Amino acid sequence: MPTLEWIGKKAVLNHHKEVPFRLLKTNEELSAGAPDCGNLLVQGDNLEALKALLPYYAGKVKCIYIDPPYNTGKSDWIYNDNVNSPETKDWLHKVVKSEDEDLSRHDKWLCMMYPRIRLLKEFLSEEGIIFVSIDDNEVSNLNQIMSDIFGEKNFLANLIWDLGTGTAAGHFTRSHEYILTYAKNKSILRNFSYIGDEDKISERAVKKISKGNPASQITFPVGMEFEGKDATFNGVYGNSEKIRIMDSEMKFVDGKLINEVTIEAGWAMRNQILSWISGQDTIDSKGQIVTKFFFDKKGVLQYEKIRGFINPQSVIRGIASTRKGSALLEEIMGERKMEFPKPVELISYLISLITTPESIILDSFAGSGTTAHAVLSLNNKYGSNRKFIVIECEDYVNTLTAERIRRVIKGVINSKDPQLKVGLGGGFRYVELGPTLFDAEGRIRPEITYAELAHHIHFTETGEPLSETGLSTAPLLGISKGSAIYLLYNGILKDKRANGGNVLTKAILERLPVFDGPKIIYGTACRLGQKFLNERGITFRQIPYEIKVS
Ligand SMILES: C[S@@+](CC[C@H](N)C(=O)[O-])C[C@H]1O[C@@H](n2cnc3c(N)ncnc32)[C@H](O)[C@@H]1O
Repeated sequence: MPTLEWIGKKAVLNHHKEVPFRLLKTNEELSAGAPDCGNLLVQGDNLEALKALLPYYAGKVKCIYIDPPYNTGKSDWIYNDNVNSPETKDWLHKVVKSEDEDLSRHDKWLCMMYPRIRLLKEFLSEEGIIFVSIDDNEVSNLNQIMSDIFGEKNFLANLIWDLGTGTAAGHFTRSHEYILTYAKNKSILRNFSYIGDEDKISERAVKKISKGNPASQITFPVGMEFEGKDATFNGVYGNSEKIRIMDSEMKFVDGKLINEVTIEAGWAMRNQILSWISGQDTIDSKGQIVTKFFFDKKGVLQYEKIRGFINPQSVIRGIASTRKGSALLEEIMGERKMEFPKPVELISYLISLITTPESIILDSFAGSGTTAHAVLSLNNKYGSNRKFIVIECEDYVNTLTAERIRRVIKGVINSKDPQLKVGLGGGFRYVELGPTLFDAEGRIRPEITYAELAHHIHFTETGEPLSETGLSTAPLLGISKGSAIYLLYNGILKDKRANGGNVLTKAILERLPVFDGPKIIYGTACRLGQKFLNERGITFRQIPYEIKVS
């Protein structure tokens, strides 16, 4: 496969691995609403922020939407749309070193984007997808690096968003943008669906509606709907076969059966029966929930409630224009605080194609916070519990990004939208980046808590976040791929003496929660011989030297 070369590529290919892990610190004052509802706004450069979030969210995100700087070369926007901000320049200089003088505008952009997209991939669950907004300036370069990182086989579409308006661009009027879309693993990705009332149904429900299984008997329960049927029915139906009502006649009120009835019907009648009840067996254009009826292999009539699966058009038209995004932001903030934020409808639409009511949605180029707004709006509308994680580095992270989210949670008095007027509810934690976990000499900083180190160790050892209950069994953090992971730190066994509970001895080993299999134990020292450890399937890792620091 052809690959893209650019100056600085070598320096950034593995850069995501060198970024140190930093602590995440909640700022209670800037947080809003119900802070424990799982939403996060992280202030900081997204490379460092993503690395800090990784031990908590790796593999857990269903949908990533990002809208990075398009690299138009313009720097007169409220955010720096090219890659010449002092922070980015400084970062490039450190990472790309001597070559940084030769970097063109495109090299710089690629150096900036590559490690970030590389890290973003780690967050996606196996059925997750990533949407990246972009325009002509970098679309082909972006597609190349996305293809490198996600694999060509996981390309889903280069969606075209019809802006509904245009701006002069050379010989053409530019009236579209792209949304490059890749799956983490296309081979297992289910078809898309829009959200409807079915949002309340988290799993497919297959129900048996006919009792027993003789192929010729079907029992219809009370309340079952029959398209266009009313009054009483006990006669002959269909052209060739007679349906014999076995128990009683079928009585309908408003198309609903009011008595349970078993009928006898041959195979040929089944399609006829399906057509009675198939009024609900259609997928409407909005993808509302549908009830699909079918006969299983034993001839039992069953139904399943499914979302209306759809194959969305690759051109997104009529959803919302850029003007709508700007007007909404102005309505919320009372003044024009950013040019061309994305319209909420666009991001809601993308999110609703892929996420389910509990999904996590990540946006590491948050800007005015449209993605967070879209998630809150979906939750408000459908009673779902989607969660957002958004990251923004600019000075306006509090005054614009967070402030917009705070306002939509509480309500925007002048809004024309009745839901927004009263407020969408929900909340978020405002999180800042703290110091690195390890100091320059590789020592764990004294303020690091047991929980913080446990998250870090579990993730770096297993590649998976610590489970929600992981700390309740400490010092046993969890079992991964057949091995138990233990952490002896900070006097978890109530002995903080230098030679106390952080040191692996026979006595301490006996106090550890039992696991019958290989064990990986982190501690400050080990008083047990290698032979003893081998016999008991114990791998000892010494803190801090054997902890991965980046
Ligand atoms: C095009 S704007 C996103 C607009 C957003 N979709 C909206 O609707 O408001 C890109 C944002 O990414 C932010 N950004 C750029 N580089 C970043 C970085 N390294 N870390 C965090 N945010 C960054 C910029 O400050 C800017 O706010």
